[in-house]
Amino acid sequence: MGLAEFTNAHRALAEFWHPVALSCEVGGEPVAVRLAGQGWALARFGGAVAGFADACPHRRARLSAGQLSDGTLQCMYHGWRFAADGRCVQIPALGGDGSIPERAQLRRPAQVAERDGLVWLAPMPPRAPLPELAPAAGLGGADIATVMLPVTRVEANAAILLDNFLDEAHLPFVHAATIGGAGPEPIPRADVARQGLSFTAVREHTFTNLTDPAVRDGVRPAVQRRRMTYRYQAPLTATLLLEFLDAGGWQFLTFTVTPEDERACRVYQSVTGPGLADPEQADSAAKYEMSIFEEDLDLQRRALSGLEFPLDPAAELHTRADRVSVEFRRVLAAAVSD
Ligand code: FES
Ligand SMILES: [Fe+2]
Repeated sequence: MGLAEFTNAHRALAEFWHPVALSCEVGGEPVAVRLAGQGWALARFGGAVAGFADACPHRRARLSAGQLSDGTLQCMYHGWRFAADGRCVQIPALGGDGSIPERAQLRRPAQVAERDGLVWLAPMPPRAPLPELAPAAGLGGADIATVMLPVTRVEANAAILLDNFLDEAHLPFVHAATIGGAGPEPIPRADVARQGLSFTAVREHTFTNLTDPAVRDGVRPAVQRRRMTYRYQAPLTATLLLEFLDAGGWQFLTFTVTPEDERACRVYQSVTGPGLADPEQADSAAKYEMSIFEEDLDLQRRALSGLEFPLDPAAELHTRADRVSVEFRRVLAAAVSD
């Protein structure tokens, strides 16, 4: 597939890294993934993951339906074999003495990498580094570990999902049954520090802490203070450090949305924090985060489905409480325009 087949937005998104699979999903069989309107086949050659446009140069069969054998990726249609660098090394129908055409080469993305338990792919040379998904060093606590949440495919605009992650004013409404039970409070204009195609915003608010054991024991009120440090990294990654000012401790959430095409995306999330090295605590933290995310998905389905994401600031109405989401629009617009 050539560039002409990308929409403009997708062409811009192709110039960034995106997670396309969990590392553990790419093993002995090729895997089909979709990114920015294009299909890719991922295959693990020895240790390293390689990616190829998911179309055999012969009759365009999906290579992800083929198999890995003898260190090659073999197309299921006529058995052509391709090496890790995309070169065709065998065409069975030509026999041993046939010469392999020069153009029998798989198209490869600009870069593929594995980090933080994810396979990342940049279709075109990336304009920003791989997103940073690790919490800042120096956060204390014992048994710190990272838990990947279940990957969720959502029929929604990727930017609308990310906008929702960065949004604070929805918490008392969409999350009234979980963290938002403290009710609405005025949101002061956030201080936002921009660095290139990313920004950081810090704010404090009250929330309902349903996971604090001292709340269950009646020792601490459920409505507590927490500091939220958002970091956005264009185009579609955000992290959130939660510091619990009353209960102590912290959690670090990551949220990356991979656009499959105009209609669907995949959400990769993780939670890191003290205590999560314990499988039981990890399981209950993952379940709790997913129950909060389910409230956002319900909002997507019932109120936001089918919406486009406008980069024109005049298309929506903003207030001073929306400082972070306005900055998100600004940086995203800068990232996807040349
Ligand atoms: S289509 Fe792949 S070998 Fe013919
Ligand atoms: Fe939410």
